[in-house]
Amino acid sequence: MAALLEIRGLSAGLQGRRSVTEVVSNVDLDVQSGEILGVVGESGCGKSTLATAIMRLLVPPQVLQSGTLTMNLKDGSRYELLNLSPRALRELRWRHLSYIPQGSMNSLNPVLRVGRQMTDTLIQHGLSQAEAHERSVAALQLVNLEPRLLDSYPHELSGGMRQRVIIAAAVSMRPALIVADELTTALDVVTQRQILQELTNIRDELGATIILITHDMGVVAQIADRVAVMYAGKIAELGAVNGIFEAPLHPYSQGLIGSIPRESGQRIAGLPGEAPSPWNYPAGCRFHPRCSKVFEPCSEYEPGLRTQGSGRWAACHLYDAEVVSDA
Ligand SMILES: Nc1ncnc2c1ncn2[C@@H]1O[C@H](COP(=O)(O)OP(=O)(O)OP(=O)(O)O)[C@@H](O)[C@H]1O
Ligand code: SF4
Ligand SMILES: [Mg+2]
Repeated sequence: MAALLEIRGLSAGLQGRRSVTEVVSNVDLDVQSGEILGVVGESGCGKSTLATAIMRLLVPPQVLQSGTLTMNLKDGSRYELLNLSPRALRELRWRHLSYIPQGSMNSLNPVLRVGRQMTDTLIQHGLSQAEAHERSVAALQLVNLEPRLLDSYPHELSGGMRQRVIIAAAVSMRPALIVADELTTALDVVTQRQILQELTNIRDELGATIILITHDMGVVAQIADRVAVMYAGKIAELGAVNGIFEAPLHPYSQGLIGSIPRESGQRIAGLPGEAPSPWNYPAGCRFHPRCSKVFEPCSEYEPGLRTQGSGRWAACHLYDAEVVSDA
């Protein structure tokens, strides 16, 4: 079956006076229907740029440089997102694609009641007041919020509740794909765990597909089926969460997993140095200045993302010789 979203050769950058600085480079990724795909990487590695490129919401100086985005819906319809007119795109975003931007918890209008904010958009898109109310109540229930919250103002809600309202609004049209960027970053651990559980329930009940963007490997471990590890605008490793956590192939994935605080509070290992900014992406393997396994070809040739069998992909010269068919 075709993937819900096929991303091919997607590159996005920042337009400077003379040239474009690439931020996200040549991303190839299939997002499978019904999965929760974690996209993880350190701050500044291009996660939000990738998310906004997928949503076609890049704003200058951000520019889309190349690529295709194909969405295959369950009813057999197929959309080339980059070819859609603004109007068709708005319609698709509204019905099938939902985006929860980074920091959206604080984006509710302080002077309007939650219910008004949730129903207004639904009404603008043709639902009656009664239908909009019904959908809003159902969506709030999906995130364990009481319908009476519709009468509250945002300042009367805790951070966790506001984040839940945002999620409820995003899923009220039962979209096929939800792209959520740093959904739980500002929340305490207990609320974070509850919201991630609610997100899993939303996937199960709505049959939605979720791309969850986070810098937190712990979040990925808790909720995702698969994970794409991003480094300096590229995918370093891709595969099932269990496989990657048990035996990460890419030295960067190894470093990220080693950096997760253990129950004892200790970290087993860390990552030396800092992630490069797009203006300083190193030549060859972009990770090579920080890699403990760097060897001769790494500073010269960029490794491609190659299959390692069993749905696992890695972009690292250590595995060049082990390329196998992904039949
Ligand atoms: N509009 C912009 N103007 C200037 N630089 C930008 C802009 N958008 C992105 N960048 C730069 O591009 C790089 C990638 O940014 P992006 O926000 O995609 O990273 P991220 O992985 O989402 O980071 P974080 O985890 O901090 O949210 C960063 O170096 C950032 O400073
Ligand atoms: S290609 Fe080389 S530098 Fe890059 S991650 Fe692999 S071993 Fe390290
Ligand atoms: Mg971001």
